[in-house]
Order: sequence, then structure tokens, then C-alpha cells
Amino acid sequence: MKPKTKLPEHIAIIMDGNGRWATSKGLARKEGHKEGSLAIDRLMDIAIEIGIKNISLYAFSTENWKRPIAEVRAIFGLLEDFIDSRLDSILSKNIKILHSGSRKMIPPGSLKRIDRAVDVTANNKGIVINFCLNYGSQDEILNAFHKIIQNRLKKKKSLEKEIKPEEMEEALYTYPLPPVDMLIRTAGEKRVSNFLLWQIAYAEIYFTDTLWPDFDKKSLHDALDWYASRTRKFGGLEK
Ligand code: IPE
Ligand code: IPE
Ligand code: MG
Repeated sequence: MKPKTKLPEHIAIIMDGNGRWATSKGLARKEGHKEGSLAIDRLMDIAIEIGIKNISLYAFSTENWKRPIAEVRAIFGLLEDFIDSRLDSILSKNIKILHSGSRKMIPPGSLKRIDRAVDVTANNKGIVINFCLNYGSQDEILNAFHKIIQNRLKKKKSLEKEIKPEEMEEALYTYPLPPVDMLIRTAGEKRVSNFLLWQIAYAEIYFTDTLWPDFDKKSLHDALDWYASRTRKFGGLEK
């Protein structure tokens, strides 16, 4: 595969279609989530090989609590197994794990494992994998305003002073990740489902019908080739 001319610095992925993948094969939805976690393994290896710096993965949204409790439990169980079985390999691959999302409501066993993964990989210098778990962008933005107010009160700063973009960005769950350059959504839906609304302001958005468990090396290369063909203008004129 020839090297890409332009690589996105930060890719965000709405990993959708696990349920449909399972149903189409006559399997329980849970099996789709399990297969989806294998697609994450595959993605991390390919992304390292290509030299991508940051990937945010939408693993569980603040709206996904509406699903049947058995499915929610299965997803968190899989996440725990994922961390337990991969942490050593994640460390050896120099991967840095981040978590974006609200800590409220995440089962304690899952929270303990995420915190450990973030903690032990904190000094890794390779690819950053940001797990967006119990993440919702509207929640993130409200939380950021709250943080800004608390901070200003603590430092006895005025609440009247205007909020600069940097102050806002520092208060987001994704800080210090750069803005998203490319957002990928698998499984055909054309919506952003409350994902990284601030961070995707100028992202190129790539939709594919491929279901997340089927997303492979070729799928990522197709998305990257499409990205490399885009002209990004950020409101200015083409250079
Ligand atoms: C995405 O797959 C994974 C999560 C939301 C956790 P879905 O479970 O939404 O799969 P579909 O959309 O039902 O196929
Ligand atoms: C978005 O997928 C959330 C994740 C991939 C974690 P959903 O399947 O929950 O989104 P909607 O409900 O189709 O918008
Ligand atoms: Mg879905």
C-alpha cells in the first residue's frame, strides 16, 4: 500500500451496526458487540502501521442507556473483558488510552478498569485511543460550562468575562486531543448521534454501509484515500 499524502491527525469513529451484523447471521445482538471488539483490535494494529496519531471510538452513548438492561450489561462486560485481556498488549504497543464521557452511571468494575488502563498507559507515546464511553456531546458541553464556572469561582475570577475557545476546549472531556479531521460512521445511517459536536466543526464526514464488525484494513484505506482527496478550506478559499 503506498503511503498516504495527507493523513488525518484525529479520526473519530461511530462504530455502528453491531446489532444488524448479528441479526443478519441469526445471532444474538451481544455476539455483534463481541465481533465489534475484534474489529477494534484490528483497527488499532492497522492504524499503528499507517501512523495515525489519535482515534476516538464511540463505544457507548449517553442515549444507549435506553437499551434493554441485558444488552447494556453485555456491552460493559465486553469492555471489561477487552481491557483485562488486552492491557498487556496495549502497553507493549505503546498505545495511550483515554476516556471521554461522564463517569456517572458507569458500573464500578468497568470504571476501575478504564481508570487503570488510562493510568498505566499515561506515559505511552504511541497512538492515542480515546474510548468515548457514556459519552454524549450535549452532556460534555454542559459539563464544560459547569467546570468553567467552578474554576472561575475557585480562582475568584469574574463570571462575567467572556469565554474564549481555549477555555472551552480545556473543559471538554476530549482535552488535549486536537479537533477531529475525519469522522467515520459505519452501517449506513447518516447522522452524528450526539458525537463530538464541538470537535467535528470542520471534520470531513465519511459514511460507509459496512457494518462495524466487517470494518477491515481495506475499509480504513478506502476512508483515508477519500480523505486525502478532499480540499479542506475552513471557511477560507482554496489554496
Ligand atoms: C453500535 O452498534 C454499538 C453500540 C451502540 C454500543 P449497534 O448496537 O447500534 O448496532 P445496530 O445499529 O443495532 O445495528
Ligand atoms: C451511536 O450509535 C452510538 C455508538 C456507536 C456507541 P447508535 O446506534 O446508538 O445511534 P442511533 O441510535 O442509531 O442514532
Ligand atoms: Mg446502531
